[in-house]
Amino acid sequence: MTEPFTVAIDGPAAAGKGTVSRAVAAHFGFAHLDTGLLYRAVGAQVLQGTNAIDAAHALMPEALEDPSLRTAAVAQAASKVAVIPQVRAALVDFQRAFARRAGGAVLDGRDIGTVVVPQAEAQLFVTASAEVRAKRRWTELKERGEDADFEQVLEDVRIRDARDTERATAPLRPSERAYILDTSHMSIDAAVAAAIAQVEAKRSGLR
Ligand code: C5P
Repeated sequence: MTEPFTVAIDGPAAAGKGTVSRAVAAHFGFAHLDTGLLYRAVGAQVLQGTNAIDAAHALMPEALEDPSLRTAAVAQAASKVAVIPQVRAALVDFQRAFARRAGGAVLDGRDIGTVVVPQAEAQLFVTASAEVRAKRRWTELKERGEDADFEQVLEDVRIRDARDTERATAPLRPSERAYILDTSHMSIDAAVAAAIAQVEAKRSGLR
């Protein structure tokens, strides 16, 4: 397939978007962009003392490779810079160009179906309860040997949810065309299978 075909996968922190997105991209042979990394890279720069809007304008794709972008401190900094309209505007062109590349693309984030690519052929909103998401995040941290406190992880999830859903520009919400995938009581394999089935249905609808 050489035509653009965009899969928009939105949802709150730790809902399983990343895993579902990577699996969908691998299954269909599409390119994948974790758009949270763009905001994390800007957040990381701000923690180093750079102005957020300047950092967003100067962002280089190589910056997305930095493993330190995965820390909890950078996640909180990311959700703070993400409320700034000029930061969001600076990052939109890169995301749109990625989305419409030939051969298909999966983008995961918070506003892909609502703002970045509303024409995305397939749209999913992957969610789960705050407790389930915090439990998954906590288990992941434990497995990495980090000393995490569950109540603190839950509090972090809630703070980020509030910032993401209550902001004025591009708040987190499902687009009208999104298929809602609530993974609270689903295994990751079942969630991936459901997502692939949705995307396949949209693809065959176009053929
Ligand atoms: O998905 P991830 O947890 O890496 O995102 C970090 C933060 O970046 C989110 O809490 C959100 O504030 C912001 N973000 C956003 N729009 C996106 C992707 C991420 O505002 N498309």
